[in-house]
Amino acid sequence: MQILIIGSGGREYSIGLALKRDSLVKKIYFAPGNGASSEIGENVEIKELNKLADFAKDNNIDLAIVGPEAPLTEGVVDIFKKRSLTIFGPSKDAAKLEGSKAYMKNFLSSNGIPTAKYLESSDFNEVSEFIDKMDEKIVVKADGLCAGKGVIICESRDEAKKETKRMLEGESFGEAGKKVVVEEFLDGYELSLFAICDGENYKLLPAAQDHKRLLDGDKGPNTGGMGAYAPTPLIDDKLYEKVKKLVVEPTLRGMKRNGTPYSGVLFIGLMVVNGEPYVLEYNVRFGDPECEVLMPLLKTPASELFYKAATGKLNELDIEFYDKKCVGVVIASENYPYGSSALAEIIIDDIVDEDIKNNTHISYAGVSKIDDKLFATGGRVLLCIGLGDTIKEARDRAYGLCGQVHFVGKKFRTDIAYQALREEV
Ligand code: AMP
Ligand code: GLY
Repeated sequence: MQILIIGSGGREYSIGLALKRDSLVKKIYFAPGNGASSEIGENVEIKELNKLADFAKDNNIDLAIVGPEAPLTEGVVDIFKKRSLTIFGPSKDAAKLEGSKAYMKNFLSSNGIPTAKYLESSDFNEVSEFIDKMDEKIVVKADGLCAGKGVIICESRDEAKKETKRMLEGESFGEAGKKVVVEEFLDGYELSLFAICDGENYKLLPAAQDHKRLLDGDKGPNTGGMGAYAPTPLIDDKLYEKVKKLVVEPTLRGMKRNGTPYSGVLFIGLMVVNGEPYVLEYNVRFGDPECEVLMPLLKTPASELFYKAATGKLNELDIEFYDKKCVGVVIASENYPYGSSALAEIIIDDIVDEDIKNNTHISYAGVSKIDDKLFATGGRVLLCIGLGDTIKEARDRAYGLCGQVHFVGKKFRTDIAYQALREEV
């Protein structure tokens, strides 16, 4: 098989690594890829989606896999399908599940899927009346996409009203905040659940946990994610069953009923409160860094999983995972997430420790190659991935690798997987 991966981050690189160890795969292309993906495949500098479809036709691509949401919401899947190309991802209409919080909340409530009680409105007085009836801790969200920043957790009704006003007047998030979703605060723990879907059938991947805040102890600003691990012990068979019956299956039924059957990765951001799952959000793509810790656990050939999903044949597949744990620690540039950072050469020590050598790898993200040397280009630069029989073993190996990677301004959290380690004995 010849496969085209669309995207350039650690997520796409990790999908590339999974395909690399898959004997069914002959060649991997990345569009555009990064400075390290050219080592496992060929980078293609094409951004325009119609031109990318031309490339796929001309190069006999058997399967395209889309990483980020932007090409999905721009309709890359529709463009490829019109050209009779096989592509893994949701259509433009199905990808709407991620674009607007109001659309998503309405979808959840009309399909009876558990989520926080909410009101969607552009009218301050209406919101204010709703807030008066709520408990003190309230979440105010801008409707549109705000790069993960449009969510404010307010400690009082007065604060919630103040933030609502600022949003509706366009002060805090511009156009994206001119409609708000105000909802009850859910007090629990968060999980990232991924279902690979083919419009009708699905395969659930092991639950992962991300660490969104920049600093240890979940402090500091939100980021794209500073590390992840899977599977998490914070979910048991009973909760998996509830998630399937109360969330995944009604979501697929609802999407089909709406005339937008969902195929691709369905990313469900869950809050678990007293053993019950509540949907915080959907995304129409893999999480990053969650993908980087899930791909190494996949025993089923990755090409088969994605191809069967893209062609509506997931019911033919028995998905298998390694009985291992995986921990990924993001190493970011100096000024992440506030701004750009100077280019910095990446030096990786020769790894002599056999345990680290055999059970870790790097998933590259914000890197470029100049004169055969790798440079950190800013943002999240790479992930150190560790595998083990326990979360602790995987975590120690990942951190062992972190100590062998060097560049100016390197920073990372030192407590990835801490919630799981509290559970693991
Ligand atoms: P969202 O973009 O809606 O997923 O929200 C971003 C983050 O805000 C989530 O990952 C949660 O940590 C937090 N959050 C959002 N909604 C709620 C809620 N109703 N209760 C508690 N925390 C929330
Ligand atoms: N890691 C969270 C996300 O990809 O949105």
